[in-house]
Amino acid sequence: MTLRRVNLVILVLLAVAFLIVVQRNLLNLSDFLHKESPDAGLILPFESELSLDLRRESGRKGEEIPVLITAAEDRLGAVVAAMNSVYQNSKANVVFTIVTLNDTVGHLKMWLSKTSLKNIKHKIVIFKPELLSGKISKDPQTLEAAKPLTFARFYLPAYIPETEKAIYLDDDVIVQGDIQELYETSLKPGHAAAFSDDCDSASAKGIIRGAGNQNNYIGFLDFKKEAIKKLGMRANTCSFNPGVILANLTEWKNQNITQQLEHWMELNTQEDLYSKTLAESITTPPLLIVFYKRHSAIDPLWHVRHLGNTGAGNRYSAQFVKAAKLLHWNGHYKPWGRTSSFSDVWDKWYIPDPMGKFSPVRRHS
Ligand SMILES: *[C@@H]1O[C@H](CO)[C@@H](O)[C@H](O)[C@H]1NC(C)=O
Ligand SMILES: *[C@@H]1O[C@H](CO)[C@@H](O)[C@H](O)[C@H]1NC(C)=O
Ligand SMILES: *[C@@H]1O[C@H](CO)[C@@H](O)[C@H](O)[C@H]1NC(C)=O
Ligand SMILES: *[C@@H]1O[C@H](CO)[C@@H](O)[C@H](O)[C@H]1NC(C)=O
Repeated sequence: MTLRRVNLVILVLLAVAFLIVVQRNLLNLSDFLHKESPDAGLILPFESELSLDLRRESGRKGEEIPVLITAAEDRLGAVVAAMNSVYQNSKANVVFTIVTLNDTVGHLKMWLSKTSLKNIKHKIVIFKPELLSGKISKDPQTLEAAKPLTFARFYLPAYIPETEKAIYLDDDVIVQGDIQELYETSLKPGHAAAFSDDCDSASAKGIIRGAGNQNNYIGFLDFKKEAIKKLGMRANTCSFNPGVILANLTEWKNQNITQQLEHWMELNTQEDLYSKTLAESITTPPLLIVFYKRHSAIDPLWHVRHLGNTGAGNRYSAQFVKAAKLLHWNGHYKPWGRTSSFSDVWDKWYIPDPMGKFSPVRRHS
């Protein structure tokens, strides 16, 4: 090669490098501009307030991991412990969206701002229970049982706009692994969500026979009803627990998942389509229908459940509980109550209420 050639090659390489730098900076600029106008033109039909608290310096950079969780007044200690566990066990740039009722906002803000949680990136979104009118039975007893916030997960793309992938967590969980790992779980093409199945899960062992614990579709849906029969679903299909959801919100929107879920809620108010023995929350059946054979899987260790069921939780060895990436106290016995298994694990993440309204029930305190 002549010297001239070498010079030319170097020149071309420099030009390419220059273009890459310019392009990267332009991308960065557009990124920046995008971030400067958060939520402009956001249309959220059922929110009265959106309190953005994202500007706080948390020192965490990089890809945002959106996590949606709900905060019910009578169990605010739960959401605080869950968020704390997620945050402490990861270095990722986690951003929480907390869905709550208007009356809870003040208490929640106090708890988040006056404690070690003050650097956690979050926004508080208000859920309007009117949203559910006509979609859940007017029978006061069911209404009582139907805690409105449990339906927030049906509206994921509305609460977390502008993101493709998001995580939903029930409030009665403790995360022990790095949430980034759960976030990186891949969803199959065409799937809007991933759940942990009830039968092949490590946590299902020995629990299936317990009263009220179901692990297949017939435990949740009334297969004698025409509307259910017509779907042609197999009654013995393994069910899943929607307390932990990894969602592709683009697919969710493309497939109108929210509208489909609302459709089944409405039908159920006309004719009871859910199993009579339904023990768990009434949010599960519509999800089972809409995601029948159309969901991806979450690693069972990322959803170790039944810690709140009688006996069931006690069957786990301390070693197994320690190895779990996520613990879920679904069932009647919550870790902030008197008689729950492994409440010592939960206590490690709990942060006392600065307003003194909430406190876990403990024998020795
Ligand atoms: C892009 O912007 C971020 C802050 O928004 C900054 O930390 C980073 O260094 C920038 N990257 C480049 C290549 O300029
Ligand atoms: C929400 O709560 C605030 C103060 O707690 C109150 O002023 C406001 O009217 C409430 N909004 C709704 C829609 O209930
Ligand atoms: C989400 O779904 C869209 C539409 O099918 C797809 O293009 C995209 O790759 C998916 N993203 C993830 C993270 O799975
Ligand atoms: C979703 O809803 C829109 C508007 O109602 C409709 O045009 C579209 O066909 C629906 N898509 C699916 C997959 O049902």
